[in-house]
Amino acid sequence: MRVHVADHPLITHKLTVLRDARTPSPTFRNLAEELVTLLAYEATRNVRTTPITVQTPVAETQGLAISDPRPLVVPILRAGLGMLGGMVKLVPTAEVGFLGMVRDEQTLQPAIYAERLPDDLSDRQCFVLDPMLATGGSLIAAIDYLFARGAVDVTAICLIGAPEGLAAVERATEGRNVTIVLGAKDERLNEVGYIVPGLGDAGDRLYGTV
Ligand code: URA
Repeated sequence: MRVHVADHPLITHKLTVLRDARTPSPTFRNLAEELVTLLAYEATRNVRTTPITVQTPVAETQGLAISDPRPLVVPILRAGLGMLGGMVKLVPTAEVGFLGMVRDEQTLQPAIYAERLPDDLSDRQCFVLDPMLATGGSLIAAIDYLFARGAVDVTAICLIGAPEGLAAVERATEGRNVTIVLGAKDERLNEVGYIVPGLGDAGDRLYGTV
């Protein structure tokens, strides 16, 4: 597994405002999208391209086009939805699928309650959007699901990750082509599974339920 933790003052600045408990939802939503656009730049470093020839007004030249099948962007509901706009701003031709994940109260395991993905994921590069990589449970389930459906590589973009979650994803995805791009790697999880210092519940902060 490859892990990239952003190291850029603009990203840290925007994350600092996101972390601030006083930041209202509209500002939080805008900043989350801006951050994803910046992280997507790094996350798409290995996006598959095909050489093409174009005619400029002056001469013929060689360039690159994003290959088929197009990259698939998969926000994990609900909070991942708040990252989608920022991602498609950078990769407007990407296809978008959705995964809804919920924790099964009996088994405590994450379960998929909704899925809207193309039938055939073979040969697909997938970009999973999930703002908080906490225990890693839902991200691991999403990654497993995408590989089982034929994806060839999966990159997760998360605003903040905890060391515990990163280690869990690393163990669970050994030998697979997985990349995690983080805005920041925080200290730890607390006893109720929140990232410390983190930013609180990303879904609540995005959608104004606090
Ligand atoms: N999910 C969140 O929204 N925040 C956390 O800190 C952990 C999981």
